[in-house]
Amino acid sequence: SGRPLVDPFGRAITYLRVSVTDRCDFRCVYCMSENMAFLPKRDLLTLEELDRICSVFVGQGVRKLRITGGEPLVRRDIMNLFRSLSRHLDSGALDELTVTTNGSQLARHAADLAACGVQRINVSIDTLDADKFHRITRWGDLSKVLDGLDAAQRAGLKIKINTVALKGVNEDEIEGLIAWTHGRGMDLTLIEVMPLGEIDGQRIDQFLPLSLVRARLGARYTLDEIDERTGGPARYARVRETGGKLGFITPMTHNFCESCNRVRLTCTGQLFMCLGQEDAVDLRAPVRASDNNALLEKAIIDAIARKPKGHDFIIDRRHARPAVGRHMSMTGG
Ligand code: GTP
Ligand code: 5AD
Ligand code: SF4
Repeated sequence: SGRPLVDPFGRAITYLRVSVTDRCDFRCVYCMSENMAFLPKRDLLTLEELDRICSVFVGQGVRKLRITGGEPLVRRDIMNLFRSLSRHLDSGALDELTVTTNGSQLARHAADLAACGVQRINVSIDTLDADKFHRITRWGDLSKVLDGLDAAQRAGLKIKINTVALKGVNEDEIEGLIAWTHGRGMDLTLIEVMPLGEIDGQRIDQFLPLSLVRARLGARYTLDEIDERTGGPARYARVRETGGKLGFITPMTHNFCESCNRVRLTCTGQLFMCLGQEDAVDLRAPVRASDNNALLEKAIIDAIARKPKGHDFIIDRRHARPAVGRHMSMTGG
């Protein structure tokens, strides 16, 4: 260990995203189908195994860990994993431990997250209309998420709201979301919908290019490009009128693979080198084969050597099949 991970295209891998469960208490219409089948719990890595794999990555130069799902905060005892991983913040080996959540369970976890050294969290909200929120998420209760945001702010957590831009669904709300998030000291990032896994509807009916959103925002707002990088894929602008930050994640219209710094671990120990490719390397076998980390370290190095150049997502009428079969809830975005 100790040697930094560099892929075949010279990109240093410093960001690990970890999906700790494929389960979710929502069923967002662009993420999964209504009758989504989840993995049997016996297939999951234990929290101890997840901790071991994360810690080996940290030993190999990963500086940022993001816990995702499904919905990470529905996994039982998940705070034990945060508590344990926070030792890498204390030692200085890790710059950031963070989470992407739908916010449903945030009210009861916010203070504990902050106590574990989490400073910034990303929360998904696609609409501020409670009925529409229920329609999009199929199960969600917006008021619970808003309570979660309050708790998070009281705990001192910085919040970024992620909004998937959906044609005909929330395109009329983007300005309202900017005013609302920025008025509360939160950042907002807009995301283009990606063709990951089967859903009940058609992606083409949901897809809204952010180039269009951006052009429309120009009528009301002045967007000043800022060069800030969080280590994630978003390009940021400062909205002059609000003073707040607005991010754009544009995998469809402008992919950002050339600066990719991340790999993704699933809850069953599969390491995906790219969100938009099927190739994965199994880390469950090496983690279970021995208490010694040597096999795991080697498996990770071999996996990074297979990282592809990028994805090439397409959404149109002729591409009825998703680019990859698995859903975002497997690889956690
Ligand atoms: P910060 O920049 O640290 O706030 O995080 P982030 O943008 O990396 O994390 P977040 O979980 O908020 O990611 C937002 C969304 O960006 C994800 O859910 C995905 O939809 C998308 N995304 C993140 N990484 C990639 C990537 O490598 N490729 C593609 N196509 N999309 C990504
Ligand atoms: N395309 C784009 N974003 C998606 N998300 C879930 N599924 C998709 C998809 N198919 C978003 C969620 C959340 C983040 C983790 O990914 O809304 O903000
Ligand atoms: Fe759950 Fe997030 Fe998928 Fe919605 S987008 S169903 S909150 S994993």
